[in-house]
Amino acid sequence: MNATIVVLAGDGIGPEVTNEAQKVLSAVAEGFGHRFDFDHRLMGGCAIDALGTSLPDETVEAAQAGDAVLLGAVGGPKWDDPNAPDRPERGILGIRKALGLFANLRPTKLYPQLIQASPLRPEILEGVDLLVVRELTGGIYFGPRQEAGEAGQEAHDTMLYTRPEIERVVRLAAEAAMGRRRKLASVDKANVLASSRLWRRVATEVLADYPELTVEHVLVDAMAMHLIRRPADFDVIVAGNLFGDILTDEASMLAGSMGMLPSASLGQERNRHGHPLGLYEPIHGSAPDIAGQGIANPLAAILSGAMLLRHSLGLEQEAAAVEQAVAQVLEEGVRTPDIAHTGSETVSTQVMGDLVVQALSERISAGSQE
Ligand code: IPM
Ligand code: MG
Repeated sequence: MNATIVVLAGDGIGPEVTNEAQKVLSAVAEGFGHRFDFDHRLMGGCAIDALGTSLPDETVEAAQAGDAVLLGAVGGPKWDDPNAPDRPERGILGIRKALGLFANLRPTKLYPQLIQASPLRPEILEGVDLLVVRELTGGIYFGPRQEAGEAGQEAHDTMLYTRPEIERVVRLAAEAAMGRRRKLASVDKANVLASSRLWRRVATEVLADYPELTVEHVLVDAMAMHLIRRPADFDVIVAGNLFGDILTDEASMLAGSMGMLPSASLGQERNRHGHPLGLYEPIHGSAPDIAGQGIANPLAAILSGAMLLRHSLGLEQEAAAVEQAVAQVLEEGVRTPDIAHTGSETVSTQVMGDLVVQALSERISAGSQE
């Protein structure tokens, strides 16, 4: 297969981790006989510096023309001025909207090798395997907004949801649950918010089409608690934009580190292979405090590459090979600082990437000899 992968490395540790993901994807291409072209574009703070805008038109055009987008992270103290006309985060929100990526899939799977890296007790973590489906192009992130301005007296953001926005994301989550353990929890704050009461009503209607699913509606504050107390009880969780943002940072701690969690953002657009044109990114941010030191964990970016292979290129075997290579290096005890025991030996971002490539290549050549 020939594929064009648009790379938006972004800011902070973004370039360091996407570099390792690209190395792994190149090894997949070589090992499985594909051709991947990487088209690097600017988005976020780096784009503000170079081109004066967080989301250049040419970046959006390139993303639309490609088969999938691999994204690092955006943002940093340099662009944090609250009065600045543009911010790196506008780039990421803008590209999600421009590509119509309404569903953000954030799987949280605990690698047994990392059970010690989580702040939670092992018996609570046993069997954790969640998929959070976060609505990504609506809600309070995109509703009518008023900045505080010069006067600084009042500001507002609006949590606005429409029926079609809720329907499509809940349906996608329901389909995902049908292919898993058939449990779906829909998150809202229906005891207070009107937009949540609509969410619950529409979700209930959509889920009537899925009688095989075990469905529950959970208030977001209660969900924050359940995720810590009994995370293994959940399978698929569907939530609005803001609630999903918050709950997935929390869920990442179940996996030991934010540095482990990949994500896929999907919409209705298809690429030339007939698969969803998706955007793949680690859920972690640009981590300016450790940028440039070569110590960031590239596994979330590498695992995002695996999701890219699966969802946008339809290459399931290749995706599984990457995930197995990651599991293998963890099994061998290879650790970046974020997932290491205090005092134990760690490797750099680059060495972690190299070792995943090595494990992958060994698997591919072992496979071809069978
Ligand atoms: C995420 C991030 C983004 C978000 C930021 C960088 C705008 O936190 O992808 O979870 O809030 O969506
Ligand atoms: Mg977030």
